[in-house]
Formats: sequence, C-alpha cells, structure tokens
Amino acid sequence: MAEDFLASALEAEADSRARQDPDYPLFHVAPPVGRLNDPNGLIEVGGTYHAFFQYTPQHPRKLVYWGHATSADLTHWDYHAPAILPDTRQDRNGAYSGTAIEVGDHVELWYTGNYKDAETGEREATQCVVTTRDMVRFDKHVPPIIESQPRGYTAHFRDPQVWRDTDGSYRMLLGVQRENLTGAALLYRSTDLRAWECEGEMTFPDASGAFDSFGYMWECPNLVRLRDEESGCSRDVLIFCPQGITPEREGFENVFPCVAIVGELVGTEFRGADGCFEEVDRGTEFYAPQIMARSSSSPSDAPTILLGWAGNAGEDDQPSIASGGWVHCFTAPRALSLRSGRLIARPYLPGLPLAPAQLRGTPTDEDGAVVAQLVDSRSWRLAFDVAYGAERLSLRIGEDSGLEIILEEERLVVDRQGTRYPHGGRRVVSLTAGEANRVEVVHDRSITEIYLGDGSRVFTTRTFLRGAGVGVRLAGGASVANLRSARAD
Ligand code: FRU
Repeated sequence: MAEDFLASALEAEADSRARQDPDYPLFHVAPPVGRLNDPNGLIEVGGTYHAFFQYTPQHPRKLVYWGHATSADLTHWDYHAPAILPDTRQDRNGAYSGTAIEVGDHVELWYTGNYKDAETGEREATQCVVTTRDMVRFDKHVPPIIESQPRGYTAHFRDPQVWRDTDGSYRMLLGVQRENLTGAALLYRSTDLRAWECEGEMTFPDASGAFDSFGYMWECPNLVRLRDEESGCSRDVLIFCPQGITPEREGFENVFPCVAIVGELVGTEFRGADGCFEEVDRGTEFYAPQIMARSSSSPSDAPTILLGWAGNAGEDDQPSIASGGWVHCFTAPRALSLRSGRLIARPYLPGLPLAPAQLRGTPTDEDGAVVAQLVDSRSWRLAFDVAYGAERLSLRIGEDSGLEIILEEERLVVDRQGTRYPHGGRRVVSLTAGEANRVEVVHDRSITEIYLGDGSRVFTTRTFLRGAGVGVRLAGGASVANLRSARAD
C-alpha cells in the first residue's frame, strides 16, 4: 500500500517532545518535530506572515516536506499541517526549497522536485508548482513545470525565486552548477508562469571575473531591491550561498557561507558589482536566507524582511536531538536596507517591542559590573549603547553557562567552548569604527543573535547553555546607556 505521507508526518508530530524541551525557542520558528532547514515560500498575505520550511518530521529518515507556520506579529507562531508532501515521483527524494508569489486570486509555491534513481543514484531536479487560494489547501501540479536543467549544467539546479518584473512578465532565478563544476545563477522568463524560457546565466560585467569561478554550486539565490538610507537611491542586492569558496580574508569559517553583492540587474547583467562581496551574517550558524514576498494588499512602505536558517549542513548532532527530538531553527526576522551601499539587517519583532529598562546593581558591583534587569527570563531582547574608552564589555547569559560574548571598540569575541554545543569554539570578528557602540542581543533559549552598529554587523549562534541559562549580566569597565529590553516568557 502507498504510504500516507501526511498521516506519517502528523503521527511524528503527535509524539513530539519538542515543546517540553527547555532549549526549544519561544519566538523563533523551529520544527514541531524532527529537522528544519531552509526558510521557504515566505509571504505576507492580508497581514498574516506565512513561513514554510524544509521539514523532515521523521529525521533521520530523509523525507523532506514543506512545513508551514503562520504569525500575525512575526513573534508568536502557529504551526499547521505540512503544505507540500514528498508524495509524487517528482519530489520523492524531497520537496526542496523555493519561494511564494501572489498571482491574482491565488498564491503559487514554487519549489524544486528532487528525485534520485534508487539504483543509479542519478539525480533529477525539476521546478514544480503548488497553488492555493486559501493558504490551507495546497494543490500540487503534476508533472513538473520545468522538466530539467538546460544544456551545460548538472542536476544541481534548484531553489527557484519567482517574482513579477516591472514589465508584467515573470522571472525565475535559480542556483545552478555548470558542467565544469562551478556555481552560477540562471534566469528564466515567462508571461503566464507555465511556459518558461531560459534567458541565460546572470553575468557580472563589472566584476573582473570575480564570480566566474566562485564555488562549486550556488544555493538559494535571492534578488531584492533595497533603498539606501544615506543616498536615498535603490539598488538590487543578490544574496546567495556559494558552496566551496575560500576567500583569503577573515570570515567564511562556516562549512558554507552566505554572501550579498550590490548592483543593478539589467536583463541578465548584474551591473555595477565590482567583485566585492560580504557575508550576510558573521555568526557560526547562518544559511539559505529568504526574502519575505508581499501581496497586493501590503502597504507600500512595509519593510523588506529576511529570515535565515540558523544551521549548517552536516551539523545535525545537536543536544536538542536527545532532549526533544528536534534540530535547528530560523533566525529572527530582519528588516533589510542599505547604508552607504552595505547591507543592513535589524531585528524585526513587532510582537516583542523594546521598552526602557533599568540597570540592576551599581558600578561598584564585582569589577564594576552592571546587571541588566532580566534575571528571570530565558527568552528576551536587549538593546543598549556602549562607550568603551580603553575598557571592554563582557556579556554573560545565565550563571556559568559556558558562553561568553566580549565586545571591544573594534572586536567581537564569541566563545562557546564551555557550552553543551558540540560545534563550540571561539570566533573573533573585527569590527569597523562605531559598530560596537550600538548593541542589540536577541536571545531565545538556545539561539543568540548579536546585532551591532544598528544592523551593520550580525552574528547568529546556537547556544546550548549549561545550567538554567536565566538572565544576562553585563560586566567590564565600558559604560552602558540607553538600555531597552523585552522579554518573551
Ligand atoms: C540549502 C539546500 C537547498 C535545497 C535544500 C534541501 O540548505 O541544500 O539548496 O533546496 O537545502 O533541503
């Protein structure tokens, strides 16, 4: 008898111990059971934010669905039945990543069907669509819409982003691998979303070849238009995950990185990108982020929101597997913009607004420590300004939790060596002048995000702390002002 894929996912969810796990985040999207990876199909429709996600409810059995969560405030999430099941030949080995687009009276979820021949191991990647009128019932179109990759590319052909161009036609951006085993992004165009024509590779005419041989595969490309806060001009930003790059400079320590480049897409040419690229997040876990699509009812000044996967391929051996049968989560939503041509990402949590906070303790406490008034919370956000002089600021979450965050005028150090996390270690990030003066930390049980310089540098890290992990202590001679906080529990 054919397997009932929905029933088996719901059964796994019914047996889930995830919510009882003290490490399970309260306001970050996490899997109801099993494994979560990339954000998928992010879209706001009529004021409701939909976050789909790569979901493996029976992890480690590799059956990849699209999970589904919704929120009115990007802080409190409700979880629903999976929206895409791996129940046809086209997606038997995974309903892989993709995006959502509103089209008239319905929404289309575009995804990659992953099929692997059981005998030869040969992969077939197809671009597929699911339609929905109510965001509750999802109808899968069989067969796939784009049946295979064009000549010159391998079957690493996936992660469609679909959007409506200014001329009314539709475009699709895909991550691909060339037959010479280098990564690229491919563009398609359509007038009706069903017949697609390959326009060719995205090229970088002003980059002096910098992106011609840039890793062996580009995953999850996303194109977004952002306004620069300084110049007022809008630019296109390409965010993508080039696998296997080894740039000769600080950063890129994760198994796979995620980078952003800024320019102007004209046809298939991404003009003005001079070969510079920056990591979107300098933290230990960050990958495959996606822009939240908007619907026709969204206000025109609605922020551009990004969510990422706070995970790394191959690092599934986290403490939460034993304690709750789940692994990985998303980052907090981030509002994006540009400042002097650089990507800016600020936490965007309308359901958890910051309010003025008082310091507990006095500068004469141990080593001149100041202690923020959040001592009985394990899920919170905290923002403040810092003046360093010759001093530093140490931020400890929980008592003897094994995590230490040290901020200096031009350096961030995050040390997880003492935590329960098996991929611990210590990471140092050089900062530019002023970045360390404005700090926000978003902490939710086992995930910590550090935002510096009003969104100019972000560091996401999974923090499986020792002990109760309650509260936060700021110590060191640097002086702290303008403290604001919010707690989620
Ligand atoms: C990125 C990725 C995507 C793919 C999905 C499969 O993490 O490898 O390229 O669609 O995950 O789960």
